[in-house]
Amino acid sequence: MEEHIRYMRRALELAELGRLYASPNPMVGCVIVQDDQIIGEAWHKEFGGPHAEVNAVNSVSDKSNIYGSTVYVTLEPCSHHGKTPPCAALLADLNPAKVIIANIDSNPKVAGKGIELLKAAGIEVVTGVLEAEAKALNRRFFTVMDKNRPYVILKWAQTSDGFIAKENYDSKWISNPSSRKLVHKWRAEEDAILIGHNTAKHDNPSLTTRDWKGKHPTRIVIDQSSGLPCDLQLFNQDIAKTYRIVSGHSTDPHIISLPEITPSALLTELSEKSISSVIVEGGRHTLQQFIDMELWDEARVFVSETRFKSGIEAPNIDQLPHKMEDVFGDRLIYYYS
Ligand SMILES: NC(=O)c1ccc[n+]([C@@H]2O[C@H](COP(=O)([O-])OP(=O)(O)OC[C@H]3O[C@@H](n4cnc5c(N)ncnc54)[C@H](OP(=O)(O)O)[C@@H]3O)[C@@H](O)[C@H]2O)c1
Repeated sequence: MEEHIRYMRRALELAELGRLYASPNPMVGCVIVQDDQIIGEAWHKEFGGPHAEVNAVNSVSDKSNIYGSTVYVTLEPCSHHGKTPPCAALLADLNPAKVIIANIDSNPKVAGKGIELLKAAGIEVVTGVLEAEAKALNRRFFTVMDKNRPYVILKWAQTSDGFIAKENYDSKWISNPSSRKLVHKWRAEEDAILIGHNTAKHDNPSLTTRDWKGKHPTRIVIDQSSGLPCDLQLFNQDIAKTYRIVSGHSTDPHIISLPEITPSALLTELSEKSISSVIVEGGRHTLQQFIDMELWDEARVFVSETRFKSGIEAPNIDQLPHKMEDVFGDRLIYYYS
């Protein structure tokens, strides 16, 4: 078991390398071991590209060496023809002795069928090695599969006396530059970013990852009656895609019309656009709805030493913090629902 854990840990390290580009596919790593030596390894690099198993097999120059090997893969090999042919069939043809898997795929198109295919080929299959770690790594993917909605991260910055903005809607300089840079890193890791009407109107944010390397998330703004001016930074579609959420009918491809704008309706709509995670960045009204409807998975809250004495109150989350970190003087508090 110890060696299974060691090689699965390596497979998880590789899976992590797909963080920025694999979505909406899961992050998957694969390691091929023969005589206690890694003879091949790889990960799923980008959505639509070859799966980790295919890349790992291709990294082995003499494929006959895979015969009798042990293959470690963080997610059950697929059994269906999607954008690529089934990985379970590819492995079965190469005859490894064992396939060790961290998570069973809850995608209904796979859900155990990949394991059945391997077993039918006479390959020993072991599941559940580092299962919790692998599930945490792919929590976005499993939320989509199991709850049929994107993974939701709430994020805000508040003063030490509990405000996210002044009465005049000014919210600048609550968190420090390092915290703000960290937010850009987080944005690069998620598919979409959502804000409410007032935040767009008063802050005119660009919602990009300009202080970090990585793709810009799709930007989403709630603008019930389409009242936001078109010259706001987030409507510059040359930089990143933006959807305006409105309640009236529209044929504009950049508008999502909903009969009633609720967190649930919004998330359903985002799922249909293959968005598997969304970071909700405020303001209070928008964030609080997700908390009240219990439609969130994580909250990341910066608390700075600044005091406003009055203003727009921070959202209220009735939960004990999971962990706290110091970001150059800002306290970063994580909550998990
Ligand atoms: N410190 C931070 O981390 C942080 C982050 C973000 C924002 N802020 C600050 O927060 C302030 C804005 O907060 P806020 O609570 O006033 O506004 P907000 O959440 O940005 O926007 C609220 C508005 O969005 C629209 N909206 C939201 N949910 C809706 C729904 N389900 N259906 C229909 N419309 C919906 C409504 O606009 P209408 O009804 O008017 O159309 C609502 O009044 C700003 O000053 C901003 O600077 C601070």
